Amino acid sequence: MKLLIKNIKGLVQVREQHIDSVKGADMKELPMIENAWLAIEDGLIADFGEMTDWPGISDWRDLEVLDADGKYILPSWCDSHTHVVFAGSREGEFEDRINGLTYAEIAQRGGGILNSADKIARMTEDELFTQAKSRIENLMRMGTGALEIKSGYGLNLEAELKILRVIAKLKAEMPIPIKSTFLGAHAVPKEFSGRTKEYVAHVISDILPEVVAQNLADYIDVFCEEGYFDLEDTIAIMKAGAEYGLKSKIHVNQFKILGGVAAAVEHNALSVDHLEELNVADIEVLKGSNTFPVSLPSCSFFLGIPYTPVRRLMEAGLAVVLATDYNPGSTPSGNMNFVVSLACIRQKMTPAQAINAATINGAAAMELEQEVGSITPGKRANFFITKPMPSLAYLPYSFGDMPVEQAFVNGVRVQ
Ligand code: NIG
Ligand code: FE
Repeated sequence: MKLLIKNIKGLVQVREQHIDSVKGADMKELPMIENAWLAIEDGLIADFGEMTDWPGISDWRDLEVLDADGKYILPSWCDSHTHVVFAGSREGEFEDRINGLTYAEIAQRGGGILNSADKIARMTEDELFTQAKSRIENLMRMGTGALEIKSGYGLNLEAELKILRVIAKLKAEMPIPIKSTFLGAHAVPKEFSGRTKEYVAHVISDILPEVVAQNLADYIDVFCEEGYFDLEDTIAIMKAGAEYGLKSKIHVNQFKILGGVAAAVEHNALSVDHLEELNVADIEVLKGSNTFPVSLPSCSFFLGIPYTPVRRLMEAGLAVVLATDYNPGSTPSGNMNFVVSLACIRQKMTPAQAINAATINGAAAMELEQEVGSITPGKRANFFITKPMPSLAYLPYSFGDMPVEQAFVNGVRVQ
């Protein structure tokens, strides 16, 4: 099956295979071919060029030709931080916040993550799968073409394994690449109330070995935060994961700075996510490391907390990543188009910087840079065609609108 798309107004994020992430000042550059064509074969990007340099097609059998006049093509969004396997919604807490309670106050009353854990416990594996699948299908229609999913609403052996099995089934049945992260240390469950250290020991000695034995996780995560897990717990979790070969992707600096960024860098974490609070020392330690800083602006928007200072991170030469944090508590949206708009509007990223952060850098934060994240021959044909628009900046500018006209995954139209 071959697909040839012609008259593309701009073919965006065209990169050579060896470019695996874009850092600092380079994030301003977004390579684009104007008036382009794109050829797809067997689910992969085969070739591209300018319309003046039309490909010599020797074999026209099985070839579909599409006209993208006035429209842009971008590689699919790569969302490296989600909690998309969850049970039901938490709009009651949303109302509580409108009426003045904070995220921390709601959590102290047994809401928050523990509320989601109660709901997960009552839901069957099949039901969880069906809900998550339909959310992911919706994300694919909105242009997402690669995803990371965390556990963390189980908080006991049985329920954590249940979530991770659902993620494994999604990996097997969904057409986009998915990475799985074990987040046993997301909150202290009721049974361990006041005994955080014992819960951490339980995660490390009882849950993690089973997760690894069943090959259910690619990464390990921990919520390093006041009222959740302290620096010592965070280090213990990262070390335990590393012993099994699991790199860390950690929740850190969402509300309070506990020193987790330096610890993550020291333990070679793949990413540090949230970073709404960030000090000079954190930025210094990230410089020259292999740890990606991940910003989740929809979470800041929804909770009304600060936005990650991404410009300072870029000025420090770092490869900033944008992701959604899709979850029922702090970010009930998995729309990457909105994330890119918010990054431009509230974090003062240029459209080029935001698109780099949401595509190639997102892929790298999931170690999927060989497969997705750019328009590169040999990568998966995961991309989307925009609605007709006057310029590429119109995409983040027209916030709240749906810029995606048609998404493709492995060269196939997303229905
Ligand atoms: O990334 N910060 C910790 N975890 C999620 C929120 C989880 C929840 O409220 O359900 C987050 O924002
Ligand atoms: Fe999160």
